[in-house]
Amino acid sequence: MEIPVNGETEVYGIIGYPVRHSKSPQFQTGAFLSLKINAIYLPFEVKPENLEDAVKGIKALSIKGINITVPHKEEVVKYLDEVSEEVRYIGACNTIKNIDGYLKGYNTDAYGFIEGLKEILPDPYNKSFLVIGAGGASRAVLYGLIKEGVQKIVVANRTVEKIYEIIKDFKTLNRFVDQIIQPISLDQIEEKLGEVDVIVNTTSVGLKDEDPPLFNYSKIRKDHIVIDIIYKKTKLLQKAEEKGCLYQDGLPMLLYQGAKAFEIWTGQKAPIDFMKRILFKDFSSDF
Ligand code: ATR
Repeated sequence: MEIPVNGETEVYGIIGYPVRHSKSPQFQTGAFLSLKINAIYLPFEVKPENLEDAVKGIKALSIKGINITVPHKEEVVKYLDEVSEEVRYIGACNTIKNIDGYLKGYNTDAYGFIEGLKEILPDPYNKSFLVIGAGGASRAVLYGLIKEGVQKIVVANRTVEKIYEIIKDFKTLNRFVDQIIQPISLDQIEEKLGEVDVIVNTTSVGLKDEDPPLFNYSKIRKDHIVIDIIYKKTKLLQKAEEKGCLYQDGLPMLLYQGAKAFEIWTGQKAPIDFMKRILFKDFSSDF
């Protein structure tokens, strides 16, 4: 039996609370193994009150790279030595690279979303979008769409003021952002459905089966493309399937954000197909 760790193994991981559900340890360690990189990727469950110590621990333990997940993505920013442009706009960091004790924060969620989207919509720039939610995940999605050149994005949120904050924060990203983003409340979604090609849910609504719907999903049309960044077939996606729409759950975004993090850490191209097979549990040709 070959044991794949030794004294020279480099350590990567994910910090979250909770973290037990994370799929990243398996597909990131799988990626290292497939490229014969002597590294391992582990889950670290860190309570909010211990986040600062945990970030110091990255330096103290010479951990090479870390992903950050819920609920730490926003909070972690203040403990970093430098952050990328994405982190500044999105206000959240999901990837840290430890460069000899200097921690640089990145956000690969926007990239992950756009790469996933392109699997079902190769040219998103000339489509119009409805994005539901105005939290950290929504900011990543909006950042990605605006960078892709999308010209019309209706953003719906329970708290409409949060959308105006995003518009203000994104003004230097694109000076026409107040014409691109149209803020609405959740109860206005149905009247806007006729104006959009793609519907994206970035809220946590749908995670639990008993969650009430964000709008009347029967109003979705067959020609809508529907994306839910939750990692399962939510009620929204079930309705999209029923209507015959193109649709996607959150796994492609998870895959591509992870692939980008891998590339930031290693400087090597991520073994996407292998990572995909681990994530989608299709090992048939490897084992
Ligand atoms: P994340 O980082 O995952 O985006 P977040 O920043 O806490 O998490 O944002 C959660 C988003 O889901 C917000 O848009 C939130 O709406 P509010 O801004 O009004 O709080 C939305 N959300 C969460 N629970 C919701 C619910 N029960 N109904 C409608 N929207 C909800």
